[in-house]
Amino acid sequence: MLSQSLLEALSSAQSICVLTGAGVSAESGVPTFRSAGGIWEKFRPEDFARFESFIRNPELVWEWYHYRKKVIREVMPNPGHIALAQMQDLVPDFTLVTQNVDGLHARAGSRNVIELHGNITRSYCVDCGLFAGEEEQAVFERTPRCKTCGGLLRPDVVWFGELLPAGAFGKAMEAARRCDVFLSVGTSGVVYPAASIPLAARSAGAYVVEINPEYTDLSPRMNETILGPSGEILPLLVTHLTQRASHEPT
Ligand code: OAD
Repeated sequence: MLSQSLLEALSSAQSICVLTGAGVSAESGVPTFRSAGGIWEKFRPEDFARFESFIRNPELVWEWYHYRKKVIREVMPNPGHIALAQMQDLVPDFTLVTQNVDGLHARAGSRNVIELHGNITRSYCVDCGLFAGEEEQAVFERTPRCKTCGGLLRPDVVWFGELLPAGAFGKAMEAARRCDVFLSVGTSGVVYPAASIPLAARSAGAYVVEINPEYTDLSPRMNETILGPSGEILPLLVTHLTQRASHEPT
């Protein structure tokens, strides 16, 4: 199932970097954005994922986020998330970068995940910038307010036209440039700057592999595309890395 070139690259890899997108959570039951039946088929990004839209109608935007938070609370990490959590202990240098805001990588046990687009489980005040405490977020409010200054709370996610969290993109690019194997998993590769990360890895000489049931805009620029669901393919890579670890001198 895995190509000889990939097996060879994995056998000697000292550094692996992974970029994930919504597809890695699809098998958990979290809808993707652009696949058939995806979120952007039902909603227009400009109605929900822009600061201006939020200020115009915070109750509507929060209704959407409360719904998505509920979906995420009710699902579990799938074998793809679990495989990535296992991978971090099988290679000396491992970096996981995600565009997902669902926190499922951390729930599967991944450490130090670079969350390029934020995390839906956190919120902060648009006026004073303070993050809401866990107990505040647990209380359901249609339009939650800051307990310190009374300002509007917003989800800690990156909306269209906003900057990525400070330092996140730089760290991701550094990891991409120093890795031996790069995996682009479950992303359509149409949202920049995230989509430039696999391209930077390729330019720096990494073996770059895409894992996705469909070809994407990035496919022509990969070393190879493995067509299939991440929950099936990633565990195969872990099996290979585990075998490698068991053959290494102790
Ligand atoms: P998309 O919805 O654009 O793409 C999801 C990809 O996952 C598609 O290419 C699917 O073919 C693939 N996919 C579906 N099921 C899969 C499975 N079981 N295993 C592997 N892949 C599967 O989602 P993203 O690329 O993550 O940004 O979208 C990027 C950004 O666009 C998101 O972070 C979000 C959105 O606007 C913000 O909210 C800022």
